[in-house]
Amino acid sequence: MTRNECKNHELVVLGDEYAGTETIQLWADTGMKFIGVAKGTPSTVDCNAIAEAGIQLSYTPGRNRVAVAEYTIGLMIAVARNITLSCTGLSRGEHVGAPMDDIYDVPDIKNVTFGPLDAKHPFMDYGIGFELYGKKLGIAGYGAIGREVATRALALGMDVSAYDPYISEDRIRIDGVKPASLDDMLRESDIVSIHLPVLPSTKGMVNREWFQKMKPTAYLINTARAAVIDQKDFVEALLDKRIAGAALDVYWKEPVPANHPVLKMRNVICTPHMAGLTTDVDSWSGVMMGEEILAYLKNEPRKYIWKIRS
Ligand SMILES: NC(=O)c1ccc[n+]([C@@H]2O[C@H](COP(=O)([O-])OP(=O)(O)OC[C@H]3O[C@@H](n4cnc5c(N)ncnc54)[C@H](O)[C@@H]3O)[C@@H](O)[C@H]2O)c1
Repeated sequence: MTRNECKNHELVVLGDEYAGTETIQLWADTGMKFIGVAKGTPSTVDCNAIAEAGIQLSYTPGRNRVAVAEYTIGLMIAVARNITLSCTGLSRGEHVGAPMDDIYDVPDIKNVTFGPLDAKHPFMDYGIGFELYGKKLGIAGYGAIGREVATRALALGMDVSAYDPYISEDRIRIDGVKPASLDDMLRESDIVSIHLPVLPSTKGMVNREWFQKMKPTAYLINTARAAVIDQKDFVEALLDKRIAGAALDVYWKEPVPANHPVLKMRNVICTPHMAGLTTDVDSWSGVMMGEEILAYLKNEPRKYIWKIRS
């Protein structure tokens, strides 16, 4: 529907469509009472204009929390076991045998192994990795995604702690997670996973001081937003081996510039902002927005109301 076709309607639900001040005023003046944005952050609409029009804005926070959490666990396993390093190595022609005229003409041996375990073995080249079981995971930001990551990490046998001063310690403990100060979380964790929003207070929060507190054997995973990490301090920490490595799904500029040093680092896994979207995400936001519409129609309190943040 176009902006004008939405006039004289009481409810509108948007996906990626933009609605600026004029549109909001037009809709409010012609009887709009419910505005929904089926996104994790309603960044495509003028939230201030909606508030000024006296309309509560429904959105779908955490609609991709499962998508991002599963991806984060995937990155954790990938860094722990050098999966992408060995996978890209193989496709670049490392550790492959000579080409064969007929790849199906192989000896009838059931237990095919990769040997011998000498200096040329992939274990020596890529490293043998470590198990997540029994390792310590520190979660920075115990919100929708942080909580889902914790549940999955606990199922893998990890020891999970979370730093989030805005969530009560009791709420964190209910999940079997240890509430921790930032310093303790950084000092103890084998993997630190970032799930912070970008706010004036979190911008550049992951900086030199942060890396100095981490174990030199620890890995940093960031599927949140790059702005929470100080880019220069991060590159420096990797070059100086202040930390063992990292996995990144988000960058300070996207697409990530081709000459960015992280792309060439063997101890850094880079993916191009893939964590948040799955074929299932739309059904999560559909269900959440459906609940909001029903609550509105029944004049009941709504669960997913956007609050303007500082
Ligand atoms: N890679 C992707 O595709 C993708 C997809 C979805 C979301 N994200 C990002 O993931 C991040 C987390 O999203 P979410 O839905 O879990 O957000 P959320 O708002 O549910 O959770 C954020 C948590 O961080 C906490 N927090 C705020 N300031 C803090 C501080 N200074 N120190 C510690 N904790 C603090 C809040 O209390 C909250 O519990 C966001 O940056 C979001 O943009 C990325």
